[in-house]
Amino acid sequence: MVPERLHKVLARAGVGSRRACEELIRDGRVRVGGEPAGIGMLVDPECQDVCVDGKRVSTTGKFYYFLVYKPKGYVSTARDPQGRSKVTDLVPLPGVRLYPVGRLDLQTSGLLILTNDGELAFLLTHPKHDIWKTYQAQVIGVPDAEEIARLQQGVLLPEGKTAPARVKILRVLKEPAGATLLEIGLREGKKRQVRKMCEAVGHPVIELQRTNLAFLTLEGLRPGQYRRLTPSEVRTLKELALGKP
Ligand code: URA
Repeated sequence: MVPERLHKVLARAGVGSRRACEELIRDGRVRVGGEPAGIGMLVDPECQDVCVDGKRVSTTGKFYYFLVYKPKGYVSTARDPQGRSKVTDLVPLPGVRLYPVGRLDLQTSGLLILTNDGELAFLLTHPKHDIWKTYQAQVIGVPDAEEIARLQQGVLLPEGKTAPARVKILRVLKEPAGATLLEIGLREGKKRQVRKMCEAVGHPVIELQRTNLAFLTLEGLRPGQYRRLTPSEVRTLKELALGKP
């Protein structure tokens, strides 16, 4: 086998995104053939043992892809030092290190993908890829046309201006009185982006749910439930992330 960069081999083996794998190497948690590994190192996975935290990584392992309906109150990480409920607890798969693709806040519910395929995770979360994520946000008050236009065109946040978004009012709610249900589509994923955008135009979020990721929806699932992605869904996601028609 042609030697490859270690962080790519680790990502393909499902250890994490390429960036996360570089960090593991930098933190000294990766060994190749028993020796500490270095950033940029070339390895031949067929001849060299690769270990993370002392455990051998399977570089020829099987990939799993799940669509999970994250309930509120679950953290979107595979490890939580505070011992809170994790999205990965919802899909018990002994011996497989699943992790979430992107994040939803603790109090946000909705669609999340869990996988052990680091390549797909990398592709889907990279900002240059054209993957739309759609949210339904219950906000305080009723945004006017100018506020909707600001959300659509980009809002100035401390971390920079947000990219153009798809925003529309779904309905004005009776309960909670005076609130509005917005549909917001984003291509980027800054931390707490929807909450910050709505706050910035004077309409703080009360409830937030991610309803779609690209063509995927929550149809047929209740909070806490999950299903496997079909091979064709995985293929289409990869094509979208790679920018193929
Ligand atoms: N935007 C937010 O504010 N929170 C999320 O969880 C996702 C997007």
